[in-house]
Amino acid sequence: MTTKTVAVIEGEGASPEAVRPVVELIDSMKLGIEWAYPPVGELGEKKHDSIFPEEAKEIIDSADTTFFGSASGKATLALLHLRWGRQTFANMRPTRWIPGYHSNLADPDGIDFVIVRENLEDMYLMAEGDVGNLAPLDLLSPLHRKKVHELGNGKFAIKVITEERTKQVAKFAFELAQRRKSAGYPGKVTVSSKYNMLPQSDGLFRDVACEVGKGYSDIECETIIVDNLAHQLVVAPKSFDVILLPNLYGDILSDESAGLVGGLGLAPSGSFGDDYAYFEPVHGTAPDIVGQNIINPTATLLSATMMLDYLGFKDEASAVDRSMEAVYAKGQVLTPDQGGNASATDFISAVKGELG
Ligand code: IPM
Ligand code: MN
Repeated sequence: MTTKTVAVIEGEGASPEAVRPVVELIDSMKLGIEWAYPPVGELGEKKHDSIFPEEAKEIIDSADTTFFGSASGKATLALLHLRWGRQTFANMRPTRWIPGYHSNLADPDGIDFVIVRENLEDMYLMAEGDVGNLAPLDLLSPLHRKKVHELGNGKFAIKVITEERTKQVAKFAFELAQRRKSAGYPGKVTVSSKYNMLPQSDGLFRDVACEVGKGYSDIECETIIVDNLAHQLVVAPKSFDVILLPNLYGDILSDESAGLVGGLGLAPSGSFGDDYAYFEPVHGTAPDIVGQNIINPTATLLSATMMLDYLGFKDEASAVDRSMEAVYAKGQVLTPDQGGNASATDFISAVKGELG
């Protein structure tokens, strides 16, 4: 049996309460996975006086993948390394309603789409500054009929969409649509951005993505402005297959999508680059429920099954998914966000029980 090494970052807030039982469950399947724990955040501080020491970076880089909880504080540096350090440009965020999920929609059955979010650029440059400092650029705002630097005291933020990155993430989205099509999905990519107001940057995203799409004649490519997409996601969520978005819209609309099927406790993700991938729930650290053992581990568990799939344990990933579906179908052992009163560890034990 070939051994795979997974770096585990339990994260902060209530996140370790979801990660630990999930790791225990996967470990109990005896797949030959070795778990390595990079010392990040407070662990790193204790051991090396650094929240992201070299040792942590080495453990992450030499592992086959990283399984990440959620971070809001000191562990966030590790997340930055996993995204920008490892250039994981495609963030895949599936939304699938499973019978038993506690959705606020009257008829969520059949919601099953995937957001592919560009993960590195757009508004995520952390390049902001004083409006006055834009003077050398001498940029005109045609709407304000003024030079941008003359608008008054204020701050700007830079948004960059590059051709190369858009090509990469679009290719990822179309290939995903092809794989889904062979499993019976419609074979459609919905490309969205605010290309009416931002014809250059968001327009480039749309145009480059559609150009890439021409190379996939079996996949339909449709375009929609992102505000309309936000509306359509609520009124016609079953009409989507793969949705391709720039970073910030993808961030926002993936939280909305989680809300359609029953909340952030149910939303997994995987981020993929050319030579690395890592997996994390979409949600944050849930500081309001720390220490109560009631965080819903579903998002973390589904992220783990995406990871198993990536590592080549496809049948095992499906087996865990099926077991989790059985727990929801029975509806006996659910966490409070899903209308139950079970703990996180009870829920994972129930999934383990179904696995047999
Ligand atoms: C996410 C989070 C992050 C993001 C934060 C923690 C930087 O909201 O993964 O969706 O904005 O990408
Ligand atoms: Mn987010």
